[in-house]
Amino acid sequence: MGGALKKANRFLMPNYGELGLEITSGQGAWVWTRNAQGKRKKCLDLLCGLGVTSLGHCHPEVVKAIEKQSQKLMHVSNLYATGPMAELAAALAEKNGDNTNVFFCNSGTEAVEAAVKLARIWAYEKFGHKKNKIIYFKNSFHGRTWMSISLTGQAKMQEKFGPVVEGIVQAEFNSRTLSDFVDHDTCAIIFEIVQTEGGVNVITDGFYDEILRLSKEYNFLKIVDEVQTGVGRTGEFFAHWHFKGNPYYEVPEIITMAKALGGGLPIGAVLARGEVGDYLLPGSHAATFGGNPVACAAGLAVLKIIERQNLMARVEKLGLHLLKRRLFEISCEFYDKIKEYRGGGFMFGVELHEPYKAVDVVKAMYEKGVLLGTAGPQVVRFLPPFIITEEELDKALQKFEQVIKDL
Ligand SMILES: Cc1ncc(COP(=O)(O)O)c(C=O)c1O
Repeated sequence: MGGALKKANRFLMPNYGELGLEITSGQGAWVWTRNAQGKRKKCLDLLCGLGVTSLGHCHPEVVKAIEKQSQKLMHVSNLYATGPMAELAAALAEKNGDNTNVFFCNSGTEAVEAAVKLARIWAYEKFGHKKNKIIYFKNSFHGRTWMSISLTGQAKMQEKFGPVVEGIVQAEFNSRTLSDFVDHDTCAIIFEIVQTEGGVNVITDGFYDEILRLSKEYNFLKIVDEVQTGVGRTGEFFAHWHFKGNPYYEVPEIITMAKALGGGLPIGAVLARGEVGDYLLPGSHAATFGGNPVACAAGLAVLKIIERQNLMARVEKLGLHLLKRRLFEISCEFYDKIKEYRGGGFMFGVELHEPYKAVDVVKAMYEKGVLLGTAGPQVVRFLPPFIITEEELDKALQKFEQVIKDL
């Protein structure tokens, strides 16, 4: 076993299971791997560090921004402003519109924590303590801290850690029953546009509209968790922008972000519209590393590259005309093995029929030099980098077709 793998498996806590592969370096859409036998392999990375390296590995402009900022200033307390933090907040606020302000942290789960605290303090200050109910959905995923697992509708994430936090209620996703769960004590609903970890389940138009309609009737906040879908993964900068044409559409009061925002560096953010963000008053919340100048400089580079290279149009076009089309063809051809494919842009899940296992497809794809992920036992997850070439993606899909054929 290679040195890093041996040490990782010996000295890390076993929460990620036995690690079988080391990644030694990455460039663009490619990574260089070494397995337990020391065998090296160059792989096309269609998992992107679980939706983080959307611009590929070590994007030269992101690297340059990190280098430049790290020679100037690496950390100050949030008692002081820094240029990168202020500029990234301004850029995100401009994108979101509607008088947005921003809170920075370091990860998705921290963004969820801050978002829920913000919703609770908003309701407390405006309506009193009784309006504290948070609704979340079955098969959701919002992270691994205690608040986030409480709001994650997958029993396996919660068992052994209970009791979970109080004042939360689980409802069915994409179901007509939502109005049964909502009342005037509801403070917020937290949801994903695509429940990625929960199996790549896409919210329906009707369900999104129903959340918006009920939020007006019962005056609760919408927390849209864009940790994985945000920063362009679905072909729009935010996945909820796909609903802009809907009759009830409005900018959600609270949006959480993380993952791709830092181009590979840890960062999380909460965007709050209008007056909502003003309720996170001094002393109510903080994060020592939140708004770190180096991470924010990387975030600014990410936003600039996406804009300048018009990457959203590219994700939308390639996602539709290549990824979706080929997954459609492959699932028609092998309908006995593939139950369904779901997603949009550069975020897709392919659900296999029992007894086929997603992990076997991932292993076989690695043998062919392609990294993919899973989303539950039956779903194979595709999260390609935005800078992948058409030929690279096409070849990877040919290999996927072969792997499915050989199952
Ligand atoms: C929708 C969503 N929210 C929150 C999280 C948690 O993010 P992190 O692992 O950065 O804490 C994830 C991670 O996969 C996610 O997909």
